[in-house]
Amino acid sequence: MNLAVFLSGRGSNFEAILEAIDKGTLAASVCLVVTHNPSALGARTALSRGIPVVLLQRESFPDGGSFATAMIAALQRHSVDWIVLAGYMKMVPPAVVKAFPGQIVNIHPALLPKFGGKGMFGHHVHQAVLDAGETVTGVTIHFVDEIYDHGLVIAQETVPVLPGDTAATLGARVLEMEHLIYPRILAKIAGEYHSRQ
Ligand code: GRF
Repeated sequence: MNLAVFLSGRGSNFEAILEAIDKGTLAASVCLVVTHNPSALGARTALSRGIPVVLLQRESFPDGGSFATAMIAALQRHSVDWIVLAGYMKMVPPAVVKAFPGQIVNIHPALLPKFGGKGMFGHHVHQAVLDAGETVTGVTIHFVDEIYDHGLVIAQETVPVLPGDTAATLGARVLEMEHLIYPRILAKIAGEYHSRQ
C-alpha cells in the first residue's frame, strides 16, 4: 500500500510511521511527502531517506481548482493509494477528498469532537483541555472530509491529564500515544487493503 504523507512541520508522526515500516509492523511504503512548507523538518527527513517531496502552495496557483488538479496529478504520478495527514496544517482541497474517497486519514491530539476545529492545533489544543478542567484527553484518528477535524472517527485512545500538567507536558504525553497508535491503525488499514487486493 503506497502512502502519501502530508505534513507541515516537525514530522515526528511521519518518523513513527517510517519506523513501523522499517520494523515490518506496517505493510506499506511512503512513496511521497506533500508539504506547503519548504523548511518543514519532516520534508528533510523524507529527502534524507530518498522519499520524494512535493512542495504545493496554494498561493502559487491562480485558483483552488488548479491547485487541487496539481495535487491530484502528483498523487497519481506516484501511484498513491492512501493519504496520511501527519501534522498538515492546511485543508485538503475538496477535489482531492473526492478523488480519494475514504482513503484519507488524519490524527488529532485530543478526543474529537471536543477540542477540534479552527485554532485547535499545537499547544492550543492542550491548553484548551487544561482550561476546561478535563481529567482525560487523548488521540483521535479519523477519516478526512471537507470539514476540518470532522470526518468519521476510526480510533480513539485516552491519555490522562495529571495534576500540575502544562500544555507542554500534556502535549508530550499525548504525542507519545500518537506515535504508538497511528502506525498501529495504519497497519490495520493496510491489512484490510491487502486482503482486498
Ligand atoms: C500532532 O500532534 C498531530 O496530532 C497534529 O499535529 C501534530 C504533528 O506533529 N495533527 P508531528 O509533525 O507529527 O511531530
